[in-house]
Amino acid sequence: MTDEPGPTEWGSAPGVGPWVGEVPDDPRLDPELLRDGDTRNVVDAYRYWTREAIVADIDRRRHPLHVAIENFGNDANIGAVVRTANAFAVHTVHIVGRRRWNRRGAMVTDRYQRLEHHDTTAALLDFAAAAGLTVIAVDNVPGAVPLEHTALPRECLMVFGQEGPGITDDTRTGAAKTVSIAQFGSTRSMNAAVAAGIAMHTWIAQHADLGQAW
Ligand SMILES: C[S@@+](CC[C@H](N)C(=O)[O-])C[C@H]1O[C@@H](n2cnc3c(N)ncnc32)[C@H](O)[C@@H]1O
Repeated sequence: MTDEPGPTEWGSAPGVGPWVGEVPDDPRLDPELLRDGDTRNVVDAYRYWTREAIVADIDRRRHPLHVAIENFGNDANIGAVVRTANAFAVHTVHIVGRRRWNRRGAMVTDRYQRLEHHDTTAALLDFAAAAGLTVIAVDNVPGAVPLEHTALPRECLMVFGQEGPGITDDTRTGAAKTVSIAQFGSTRSMNAAVAAGIAMHTWIAQHADLGQAW
């Protein structure tokens, strides 16, 4: 154990002030941030980096995990899904249906996360087939198998439903399998963004190189 703050501990490192001393000759660094300081919600390794440099660096390490959320009724959970996807270096977050979604929940992480829109679930499934991704629907519906006992494909697209109706019939029939997260209480389902976080982390636990984590 060490008392040293970790690289992502915001409490002890809410940001940094203007660069002190000779400015490094590094094209990844942003002259304005060097001059004014950097209080963005980024890990310390990316302090003073331009957005483009951060995205390029994550791009080198993105996982072959894609996630999609069906947004036919404007799901308020999308921001939280985007933020968690960013934390796990998910390849792309796909939004199906309505283009509009509330970005507040993303806490600006959408600036560093690849996002794609599809008008319909059919278009999403066509994309997955062309990209060689195995589609895994995530919902606690009849026929679902326990996520906890499922070996997830490495090249994977996980699809989450919206609050209320859950996943569409197109997703259920188009997916290679549907997985459910075990529940033990009284509620019929959990919040979609929480379920997405659990499912993404299950993929991370099975496939990611934890030695590369911050
Ligand atoms: C609030 S749920 C709504 C649908 C849900 N099937 C129901 O009967 O109430 C919204 C989404 O969260 C995810 N979800 C919630 N609880 C889940 C669970 N126990 N297992 C898998 N996915 C879940 C699914 O993607 C689902 O489509």
